[in-house]
Amino acid sequence: MSTSAMNGRERIMAALRCEPVDRPPIWMMRQAGRYLPEYRALRADHSFLECVRTPHLAAEITHQPIRRYGFDAAILFSDILTIPEALGIDVTFPKGGPRLDPTMETAEKIAGLPDPDVRDVLGYVGGAAAASRKQVGEDVALLGFSGAPWTLACYMIEGGGSKAWVKIRALAHREPDVVRALLDKLADLIIDYLAMQVEAGVDAVQLFDSWAGSLRREVYDDLVLPSTKRIIAEVKKLDVPVILFARNPGHLLESTLDAGADAVSLDWRIDLGRAAALAAERGIGIQGNLDPTELYASHDHIRRRVQEMNADVDGRTGWVFNLGHGVSPPTPLDGVKALVEAVQGLAE
Ligand code: CP3
Repeated sequence: MSTSAMNGRERIMAALRCEPVDRPPIWMMRQAGRYLPEYRALRADHSFLECVRTPHLAAEITHQPIRRYGFDAAILFSDILTIPEALGIDVTFPKGGPRLDPTMETAEKIAGLPDPDVRDVLGYVGGAAAASRKQVGEDVALLGFSGAPWTLACYMIEGGGSKAWVKIRALAHREPDVVRALLDKLADLIIDYLAMQVEAGVDAVQLFDSWAGSLRREVYDDLVLPSTKRIIAEVKKLDVPVILFARNPGHLLESTLDAGADAVSLDWRIDLGRAAALAAERGIGIQGNLDPTELYASHDHIRRRVQEMNADVDGRTGWVFNLGHGVSPPTPLDGVKALVEAVQGLAE
């Protein structure tokens, strides 16, 4: 394809396929969320879960950052914890982070989990994806997503967020087959869940393995990678690119690059140039990896970092500009604007 008049959707799809682009495409993890006043205004009248479960509200929120900043991709407004909820677990979002009840820390509890049809129980996510596809239009990419099995299992076994994830890591060493069974079950659901999103019109999907970095590499390779690889392989059969995000994965970088994904989304602690070289050797792309807290810095700083990152990647492979993790409230709105303009300014 000619790169002369690419729209955002073409640009991001080309980058994910390591084809030429007029400039790197950009979107931001958590781009639809609390740093945006228009999101906070909507949330004043609707709870988070109501927004997630109501397709026209989800589509509106998905579209908000596109309207304000002109990102190349929109990410479906939803959450990774829809899957545990589909398994009958009560998921709430009080202040201080998500709570899941009951916890799934024994073989008996895990064996007793139901076998839901995700297209039925999570049909509202397909509805949100279809409504979002309509609302963002044909020129902007729409990204679907799911939590990866390990990260979902972390929340299910711990019952909420954790710094160290002691319960699941202990279980992984004491009864690895129990954890493996849970990861396999989650993978089955995730495959259907992502296929439903693809049928509803998403262009690419991202798997969020936010807590992969809590494991040493051999355990990650042995316990976590097989179900993750299986999901990636199944989604790729639908001819849809898959992006794999693992947080804090310095020691896992090569494992994640070898998982079969079209692109790996990099945490800011990873050296971008080194990752670009390793990804290029494998013929895959990268995404990332500005530290989200750099958006609080001066606009000169932001522009300089965009130039530095572009020089680090040096055209070696497909590159989607993103943050190394989600944007946090209260990120300054004009810092995000400076970032988007700087990336748009990289045009040949
Ligand atoms: O804009 C987007 O990125 C799309 C929507 C999205 C949300 N969560 C919306 C959300 C996505 C892709 C996620 C993924 C997600 N959710 C992850 C993986 C990425 C990561 O951050 O590592 C995880 C671990 C979760 C679980 C989760 N959901 C947490 C920890 C929280 C609490 C966050 C907090 O700071 O309180 C949520 C709630 C949530 N998910 C919000 C949003 C916008 C905040 C809801 C609100 O209060 O309005």
